[in-house]
Amino acid sequence: MGTTMTSVNEGEHAMRLARTHYCGDLRLSHEGEEITLQGWVKKRRDHGGLIFIDVGDRFGVTQTVFDPSLNPEYHGEAEKLRPEDVIGVRGLVRRRPKGSENPNRATGEVEMVVSDLEILNRSETPPFEISNKNEISEEVRLRYRYLDLRRPKVRDNIIQRHNICQAIRAGLIDQDFIEIETPCLTKSTPEGARDFLIPSRLHPGEFFALPQSPQIFKQILMVAGFERYFQIVKCFRDEDLRADRQPEFTQLDMEMSFVGEEDVFSVAENMVVHVLKTVLGKDIPTPFPRMSWDEAMNRFGSDKPDLRFGMELVDVTQVVANCEFNAFSGVAASGGVIKMICEKGGAVRSRKDIDGLTELVVSRGAKGLGWFKVGEGLELSSSIAKRFSAEEKAQLAAAGSAEPGDLLLLVADTVDVSNRALGDLRLELGRRNGLMDKSEYNLSWVVDFPLLEWDEDDERYVARHHPFTSPCAEDMDLLTKEPGMVRARAYDLIMNGNEIAGGSIRIHRKEVQEKVFSLLNIGPQEAQDKFGFLLEALSFGAPPHGGIAFGLDRLAMLLAGQDSIREVIAFPKTTSGSCLMSGAPTLVDNSQLKDLGICTLSPPQPDPVS
Ligand code: AMO
Repeated sequence: MGTTMTSVNEGEHAMRLARTHYCGDLRLSHEGEEITLQGWVKKRRDHGGLIFIDVGDRFGVTQTVFDPSLNPEYHGEAEKLRPEDVIGVRGLVRRRPKGSENPNRATGEVEMVVSDLEILNRSETPPFEISNKNEISEEVRLRYRYLDLRRPKVRDNIIQRHNICQAIRAGLIDQDFIEIETPCLTKSTPEGARDFLIPSRLHPGEFFALPQSPQIFKQILMVAGFERYFQIVKCFRDEDLRADRQPEFTQLDMEMSFVGEEDVFSVAENMVVHVLKTVLGKDIPTPFPRMSWDEAMNRFGSDKPDLRFGMELVDVTQVVANCEFNAFSGVAASGGVIKMICEKGGAVRSRKDIDGLTELVVSRGAKGLGWFKVGEGLELSSSIAKRFSAEEKAQLAAAGSAEPGDLLLLVADTVDVSNRALGDLRLELGRRNGLMDKSEYNLSWVVDFPLLEWDEDDERYVARHHPFTSPCAEDMDLLTKEPGMVRARAYDLIMNGNEIAGGSIRIHRKEVQEKVFSLLNIGPQEAQDKFGFLLEALSFGAPPHGGIAFGLDRLAMLLAGQDSIREVIAFPKTTSGSCLMSGAPTLVDNSQLKDLGICTLSPPQPDPVS
């Protein structure tokens, strides 16, 4: 080891000191050893002539001591060291003096007495303290993401994501899957969002689309006979962004031949069990419960029900159909529904508080929120209580399994609006009452989705999942008679109220695929232009097949106990779809545009940060 040079040399040069250990390695068993660490200055404390420097790397932090009575030559340099300077230090490991051990740190029983220092690089004063656990604005964090990623919590999220990917690969390879890459420069695959387009220089005026998912390619891999495919793959969707959506995100994408729903469920369940066990040491029971889409909507007002708590929606239309309160009886008479939830202990809410809850349901399309406080003897009180008979009130309390001190909340509207509004109110109250335990992993399948959805704007049916999803065999004859009633062989996997995966059994016969295209108003020519290669492939012995894709970012977010997928993506985009660190997207040179045969219509707008 090059210990002959003793000067603290700076500048571009080969490292003089060679690292022997990571900063998280040292224990009492290393006492008396001479070792070399490299890393970042995390903290400096000057203490009666001694200088203590915490040196950190990916693996941990070690306390080092500069003692002028032992090694005076580096003292002046040590005094000048500042947080995030990059150094190498060599010295002897010793047991910390009694009383100065740090039980919260793996290396806390020892320290290193520095005999040699090499400064590898200096750091500007960081815009925030790396060791600071306080909130830092997300704008600053994303602008200096490389510093943000040095923070232990953020770094651990990224490392845990790596562990998840490793566990996924092991879990699937063990189940005979092989990983195959599909192209990024491709044709549009409809997954319900806008495409990101890539102009082709070699074919002026023509565009590739970045894949919204590898859906068509993975189906074609089944036609090609690979039987069990997976890929951890980037997908691109130009859609409005939220905490759980990014324009480029990662899927764990899978497809299998000769399978039905139960086969896909069992492969996916095995894989999730393996990941939770390997990454978090958690055991979760299988099979995961299944619930039809209808039931999920009726009981929880959501197609991704959070089953960690109850507060289910109950239908009380029959109870209040003839009450004197017109807002309820009128809705019942016109074919709508009155639904209710019961908040345990909610009777303490103030009028103002309930007004806030009313605003929430109104923002979801409801006309208002009816409420009753439940008193002693199950007496219901509220400004509208007089309009209900004693019998009606008793039945409402019974329907909500109410107890004294509870609050009954009711929405009267169409089935859709009542479910959606109360479903969101249920979640809000679940959050406020601390009913969502982040350490619990509640998994369930939602099945039997409707195949099609009526698009009011375009006045046509659109595929709810995607147009390659197989209709339920029993509903085949409804395809032409009553397309809106046809159920799909589609399924979503829900974890704690988040859709973490979605998939389906596919159409594998060309004629059925053509029929579904025509129901979706995709004429033969358009079908040929857009999906001709898939139709052709289906005509060459396509096996029955199905699959699923997990939102890897969402899975990693939930396993890390985070509320935003940006916390588990190394370099995420903001909610306005830009990268604050690199400044992308940016304008490009006119010459580049010219090469591509492109001219832009309007000057670019400044990008608001959010
Ligand atoms: P789907 O569109 O349901 O299915 O996507 C699968 C999963 O990907 C995640 N996801 C997202 N995550 C982050 N940002 C986004 N913008 C985003 N969009 C989706 C969700 C979702 O459950 N080809 C089908 C799969 C199949 O049928 O096999 C597909 O892409 O967690």
